[in-house]
Amino acid sequence: MDLDNRYPALSDLRARARRRIPHFMWEYLDSATGTEQGMHRNRAGLDRILLRPQVLKGEVEHDLTTTFLGQTYARPFGISPVGMSGAMWPGAEGMLARLAVRKEMPFCLSTMATRAPEDLKDDIGNRGWFQLYPPGQPEILQDMLDRIRTSGFHTLVLTVDVPSQSRRERQTRGGLTHPPAITPRTLAHIATCPAWAMGTLKHGMPKMPFIGKYSTHKGPLPSTAHIGYLLRVPPDWDYVKRLRDLWNGPFIIKGVLNPEDAKACKAAGVDAVWVSNHAARQFDGGPAAIDCVAPVRKAVGPDYPLLYCSGIENGLDILRAIALGADFVMLGKAFHYGLGALGEKGGDHTVHILTEDMLCNMGQLGITRPNEARDRLI
Ligand SMILES: Cc1cc2nc3c(=O)[nH]c(=O)nc-3n(C[C@H](O)[C@H](O)[C@H](O)COP(=O)(O)O)c2cc1C
Repeated sequence: MDLDNRYPALSDLRARARRRIPHFMWEYLDSATGTEQGMHRNRAGLDRILLRPQVLKGEVEHDLTTTFLGQTYARPFGISPVGMSGAMWPGAEGMLARLAVRKEMPFCLSTMATRAPEDLKDDIGNRGWFQLYPPGQPEILQDMLDRIRTSGFHTLVLTVDVPSQSRRERQTRGGLTHPPAITPRTLAHIATCPAWAMGTLKHGMPKMPFIGKYSTHKGPLPSTAHIGYLLRVPPDWDYVKRLRDLWNGPFIIKGVLNPEDAKACKAAGVDAVWVSNHAARQFDGGPAAIDCVAPVRKAVGPDYPLLYCSGIENGLDILRAIALGADFVMLGKAFHYGLGALGEKGGDHTVHILTEDMLCNMGQLGITRPNEARDRLI
C-alpha cells in the first residue's frame, strides 16, 4: 500500500518507530528533561501561532527553494544534530547523509554521532554541517576542526545550551548506559526489535568515533554523562571569538533563546543564530522555544540569518516558525522516527510528509514562497 496512505503524518511514523526501536534507545530519543512540561510548552506554543488564509487568488505557484548562508537548498528545512543516531537506528548517519544529498538539504552531524565526519566523506557531498561540543584543550579543538574541514563539512555549529548535564530522568529510567550494557533487561528490549538487532549486528555496536579519538576513559558511564562530558567545557564569549578566528566558513551558534545573547552573537561575527531549546531536553523551566523567535528576530534585525528548531511536527509548524522570522527550520526527532519506522526510505518519507504539508498550507494561505507567511501572522 502507498506509504502516504499508511503513514500520512509524522505521528504515524513515530508510532511504528516506537515498536521497532528497543525501549532503552527509544527513551533516549523521545524524552525531554524534568517533568517534560517544556516539551508540552513547545507544542502548545506552536499551536498558538495562527495564520490568516487568503482566498480567490486563482492558481498560485509554490517555490520552496531557499538560499541560506551561501547555499541553495530545495526546501527551508534540514536535519538537526542528534547524538548517537546510529544507536537508535543502525547506519542512521550514513542514511541521513545520503538523504541530505538526494533531497538537497543540510545534514548537521553531531559531535556525539556514531560515525565520524571521515566516515561520511564520500556520502555527504556539499550538504554537511558539523555540530561542535567544545573541547577544553586547544590542540584537540584544532585537530577536530581539521578533521571536520577535510571531511567536507563546510558549516560549523557551536551548541551552547548544554553548559551542564541535564538529568533526563525518563532517559535514565529507560536503562541506557555508555556503551549500551547488555543486561537481561536490555536483551529483553532488543529481542522485541529484530530489525534493529540485525542492523546492529551488521553495523557493529555503536561507538562515538569522533570524540572517542581523544578519550582515554575505560568502562561504562551513565546515560546522561557520556565521554563527551569528559572533554567538553562550557563555552564563553572568548571561546566564540577563538572559534570565529579559527573557522573560515559559515559559523552558527545553536541554542539561543535570549535576544541579548543573539545580539552579542551578531556582534561577535557569528554568521547565524539558531533559536532552540534542544527540544526541552536540557531545561524544563524556560519558555516555548517558538516564543523566542520573534524577540530574537527583532533584536538581530530583518536581514540577519536565523534558524529555528524544537518541537516541529509538520509542514504547518515550519511555516509558523518562518512567519515569526526564522529563515530556516531544522528537525531532529522527526527524521529518526522516519528511519525507525521504515529504515532508509523513512527519511525520504519524512521529507515527503513535511513538504506536502507545507505546500497544502501554502495553498490555503495563497502564498508562493514560505516567507510570505510573515504577512499572514495574526
Ligand atoms: C536524541 C537526541 C539527541 C540530540 N543530540 C544533540 C547533539 O548531540 N547536539 C546538539 O546540538 N543537539 C542535539 N539534540 C538536539 C537537536 O539538535 C534539536 O535541537 C532538537 O532535536 C530539535 O527538536 P525536535 O527533535 O523536536 O525537532 C538532540 C536531540 C535528540 C532528540
